[in-house]
Order: sequence, then C-alpha cells, then structure tokens
Amino acid sequence: MTKVLVLYYSSYGHIEQMADAMAQGARDAGAQVDVLRVPETAPDAVVKAAHFKTDTAHDVIAGPEALKAYDAIIVGAPTRFGRMPGQMAAFWDTAGGLWMSGALHGKVGGAFTSTATQHGGQETTLLGIITNLLHFGLTIVGLDYG
Ligand SMILES: Cc1cc2nc3c(=O)[nH]c(=O)nc-3n(C[C@H](O)[C@H](O)[C@H](O)COP(=O)(O)O)c2cc1C
Repeated sequence: MTKVLVLYYSSYGHIEQMADAMAQGARDAGAQVDVLRVPETAPDAVVKAAHFKTDTAHDVIAGPEALKAYDAIIVGAPTRFGRMPGQMAAFWDTAGGLWMSGALHGKVGGAFTSTATQHGGQETTLLGIITNLLHFGLTIVGLDYG
C-alpha cells in the first residue's frame, strides 16, 4: 500500500486542520497515511505570549531519517512574511544527509499553505516549499483546475 506522510507546522491550528483534511483525502484514495509535525523552535516564552496552540493529536517527527519510509511527502506550513516558517525550514536544514545520499529521489512531493490575507504570499510560500522538495529530488504533484 502506498505510504503517505503529511508533514506540517502550525502555530494556531489552521494548517493542522488542513493536514487532517489532506490525510483524509489520501486515505479515501487508498493510501496509508501518517500525520506528523516538525519540532517547535520558538522559545517557550514566545509560544506562551503569542498563544500558540500546543494541544495536538499529532506526534513530532522523530527526525529526517523518518522521511525515507514514505512514497509521498506532503508538506504543509502557514505563510510567515511571504515564506515558510523557520520551524519548517529548520527541519529541512537538518536533512543534509538525505540530500547527500539521494534518499528521497523519486518520491512524490506536494505542498499546502494558508495565509490571513488575500495576496498574502501563498504562491511565494508554496514555491519555497516546492523548491526545497525539488532540491531533495522529489517529483512535485499539484492539483489541476478540475
Ligand atoms: C509571524 C507571522 C507572520 C505572518 N505572515 C503572514 C503573511 O506574510 N501573509 C499573510 O497573509 N498572513 C501571514 N500570517 C498569518 C498566517 O499565515 C495565517 O494566519 C495562517 O493561516 C496561520 O496558520 P496556523 O494557524 O497553522 O499557524 C502571519 C502570521 C504570523 C504569526
């Protein structure tokens, strides 16, 4: 059975909700799906002061090596100033070993984001995530207009 990972970061739960919807869609299509989040890197004081949502049903991914187990990796991250959050970038920045060995070559990749405003940087965030995935050798699959 095809194994899909939905890997996400979310401060306030919007992307987490979208991650669950992504997972449901992939399950409905017959895949075996895990939903995991990347580690929080913001200091505790910021997490508290900014009222980040800390209750979640999903585990933190064990580390970059865990990505090897999947046929497809769908990355979800909210837009931060027109780009992906540091938390998601920090995770991929620890995955150099996978980049070096080509461990993710040929896997299928996808991306999703959310913003607070129209024209708030959705495309730039998505292109940033997609560029990141392309560097690791994933084949990007998107949705057509249908
Ligand atoms: C530090 C920060 C930067 C943000 N930058 C943008 C932005 O550039 N454009 C935008 O439309 N929304 C921006 N937002 C809003 C979030 O992208 C938006 O509310 C998103 O849906 C939150 O997802 P989450 O609940 O999964 O964290 C920003 C929010 C924060 C906290």
